Amino acid sequence: MAITLPALTPLQATLWLTLCGRALDNRLPHPILADRMADEIVRKVDYDYKKLRIPSSSAIYIAHRAKKLDEIAQRFLARHPGAVGLDLGAGLDSRALRIAPPPTADWYDIDFPEVIAARRELLPDRATPHGIAADVTDPAWVDALPTGRPAVIVADGLIAFLSEVEMSSLVGRLIEHFPSGEIAFNGYSKFAVWAQKHAPVGEAVRKLTRFPGMDDPRDAERWHPRLRLVKEILLTREPEVAEFPPVLRLMNRLSAPSASWSRKGNVVLHYRF
Ligand SMILES: C[S@@+](CC[C@H](N)C(=O)[O-])C[C@H]1O[C@@H](n2cnc3c(N)ncnc32)[C@H](O)[C@@H]1O
Repeated sequence: MAITLPALTPLQATLWLTLCGRALDNRLPHPILADRMADEIVRKVDYDYKKLRIPSSSAIYIAHRAKKLDEIAQRFLARHPGAVGLDLGAGLDSRALRIAPPPTADWYDIDFPEVIAARRELLPDRATPHGIAADVTDPAWVDALPTGRPAVIVADGLIAFLSEVEMSSLVGRLIEHFPSGEIAFNGYSKFAVWAQKHAPVGEAVRKLTRFPGMDDPRDAERWHPRLRLVKEILLTREPEVAEFPPVLRLMNRLSAPSASWSRKGNVVLHYRF
């Protein structure tokens, strides 16, 4: 039976880039994330991922950062089984399936209404225990979240599309809503923003990128007085690099000793509040 998906705006359609990245990683001999659901969806809708021209290095980087965000969410929920988990700008990602939150936790995926509708078409119900159809820059949606429980908040591939003011207001609203928690997202240095606007794989997102880039992860501490950096995770230094194909592994090994060089690439920023 043919699947009819809601029409997506160019901003919403960026979800294909990350979904296809994870699907392509899954097809490698040594996948980093092994996201079978991403692969299944791409096959199910017969999405022409070739038009996105995703190099295998980008697919691996997309999968690698998703894995680090999964680990942060999973560790937090193991320590706080009654917590709330949020995936901001969730796209068609089935993070809840990968991390399997404890039954006492509540997991929320937030994205535009068309994307939440597409999730309902393409993903099993257990992938979206709670879907919130909203623009994350709209202050009202936060009221739908439970209060009085710790929260782990992740955003994978979202921050590039928000201005710094929008991101800091969003983070501030969430910190004010929850008593404590952690926030993690893939970071963009100024160079990474420049590269996203100029690299061939950035074509789909070139005009949509609004975040100016951040070279010092402590700059985000200015977004709210309770926000504190836990760790800047430079992915060149993470153990999964050993599984990368030889040339990519060598490039990462050469970059790893230099923080400023590593920051030009794949980074996950992890904060607590
Ligand atoms: C690059 S995709 C990443 C999707 C998903 N996190 C993943 O890793 O596959 C960016 C996502 O952010 C969503 N997004 C961008 N701006 C948003 C906003 N203001 N409110 C809600 N979602 C937004 C888009 O609809 C899209 O699904």
